[in-house]
Amino acid sequence: MCGIIGYVGAAGTDVTSILLDGLRRLEYRGYDSTGIAVLTASGEVQVCRRAGKLANLAAAVENGARPAPGSLGIGHTRWATHGRPSDTNAHPHADCDGLITVVHNGIIENYAELRQRLEQEGHSFRSETDTEVLAHLVERAYRGEAQGDLLEAVRLALQPVRGSYAIAVLCREQPQLLVGARYNGPFLVVGLGEREHFLASDIAAFLKYTRRVVIIDEGELVALRPEGLTIQRLDGTFVERAPTTVEWDAEAAEKGGYPHFMLKEIYEQPEAFTRSLLGRVRAGQLYLPELEALQRSGALEKVRRIVIVACGTSYHAGLVGKYVIERWARLPVEVITAGEFRYADPLVGPDTLCVAVTQSGETADVLVSTRQAREQGAPVVAITNVVASAVTRLADAVLYIQAGPEICVVATKTFIATLAQLYLLGLFLSLQRGTLHPERAAEVLQALEQLPMQIQRILDRAAAADDPIAPLARELAPLHSVMFIGRGVGYPTALEGALKLKEVSYIHAEGFPAGELKHGSIALLDPETPLVAIATASHVYEKVVSNMQQVRARDARVIAVATEGDEAIREHADVVLYVPPTLEELSPVLAAIPLQLLAYHAAVARGCNVDQPRNLAKSVTVE
Ligand code: F6R
Repeated sequence: MCGIIGYVGAAGTDVTSILLDGLRRLEYRGYDSTGIAVLTASGEVQVCRRAGKLANLAAAVENGARPAPGSLGIGHTRWATHGRPSDTNAHPHADCDGLITVVHNGIIENYAELRQRLEQEGHSFRSETDTEVLAHLVERAYRGEAQGDLLEAVRLALQPVRGSYAIAVLCREQPQLLVGARYNGPFLVVGLGEREHFLASDIAAFLKYTRRVVIIDEGELVALRPEGLTIQRLDGTFVERAPTTVEWDAEAAEKGGYPHFMLKEIYEQPEAFTRSLLGRVRAGQLYLPELEALQRSGALEKVRRIVIVACGTSYHAGLVGKYVIERWARLPVEVITAGEFRYADPLVGPDTLCVAVTQSGETADVLVSTRQAREQGAPVVAITNVVASAVTRLADAVLYIQAGPEICVVATKTFIATLAQLYLLGLFLSLQRGTLHPERAAEVLQALEQLPMQIQRILDRAAAADDPIAPLARELAPLHSVMFIGRGVGYPTALEGALKLKEVSYIHAEGFPAGELKHGSIALLDPETPLVAIATASHVYEKVVSNMQQVRARDARVIAVATEGDEAIREHADVVLYVPPTLEELSPVLAAIPLQLLAYHAAVARGCNVDQPRNLAKSVTVE
């Protein structure tokens, strides 16, 4: 939800620039407020915090609030949970006299009770945040039981804390020591340089300086000094971990000449989809060692049903997953929005395979649901883009979607790469159960391998001067509402098209099963409310066309997403966006592309902040 960065190195370093640069790369995680704290050479902790975006903080720094050079610093970009976005609630937060300074990503569930206790002991609070309790707890332990040992003070302070956190902590008396900790979800990674080290919520924050990383695991603390790092568990035991080198370079996290990350990521989809199949599909054969190991363990033998837990775009991918798994593997699949799962007293046990779909691997709703399913005995398969993210710790097998870093808050390439994993899972289960003829499976695999080239065709056409998508988006831009319909796998595609449009352009949009429209929502249609129909080739094509006719008869404008070669559709639609032919089950991968572009161009035409839509955050690490 929030992004944190920390630095420790030689005295006299321009820590502020390092922190601001890191925050720029973390801003996609939240942008309600930002702040930095630097321990200067004179031993003073100088803090600068501003409500609003990073630009406000950068301007304050330029206009006189720049902390002096130092050896140690922490920074934060916030997506507010407790306390409104304001200068006072912006991180970093300090204890009573500024001995301890903390930044935090996550949520302290028992903060009210901890705060009350600390206030009774005489601590005075300045902000409305849950985070501030951490600073006071560390101060109390540092001055008390830990006797000036900062790592031990943080460890002791965290014992009564419930919730989820990734934190970075500095102490005014320890100019060469940065302490971090991670628990219950939020990601935390160390970057190792030459006598200078980094701590962040995302590797991209320090990739410019180093590619040598150490991932901090759940329930671990790290002490970073210029001479190296020490990792300790919350129970006090020490852990040895060698660094690994990441392959991506800073360029991969930059815009590469596109005006927005969203457009860049839409255009990266052929490559992302290819990567998502890499090593898994060869010469018409499926290779999924991750699931083979699960199968060998015997966990899949008992499985009689599947539950997919996910949110937002990943939920839509899950709905496509339901369709193909039921069709190919003949197993009943329930797709539940993760925020509802835990509280629905779910009927899950060892006969249920839980598939947790979360590109970030950090979504709190998905994590609590997955934990619950696991506790009830269900084997868990996680589908995620982020290596070693929290969901992977809860899973018996992980399918990495391998889409590369997605910086735009709005999911595009991770959607289609997630679909790839669900297709592979469906094929794996159906081959294992003998419900799909191997020839049919080979046909699906071949069709999957064609998709990157077909996506490229859509993108090449979209870049041509006579393509209808951008002009259509400009026509939609002044409107208030757009409806989307689809049937079968076209239904989740309609939901995803509507979500893309509303979250990035703020035009109200709703997706419906095509047959459901006439049961009420059709009343909303008028000449100012167009309908987008997913009318690609399928066994329900004719039904969708008749739903389009019902709408056109009421003077609403109709936009169809259809399969190349379908000239007849022009009779029923005012505008047609064509996609190449593929198997019906795979059609959402192609149909999603023009809908993403439509949303993107509508947002640009309305002057919206495409990469950071209002009120959103890339990783939603609170329930
Ligand atoms: C939509 C979007 C969100 C996420 C949702 C789940 O563009 O980005 O709806 O899909 O917050 O996120 P993950 O997949 O990270 O669990």
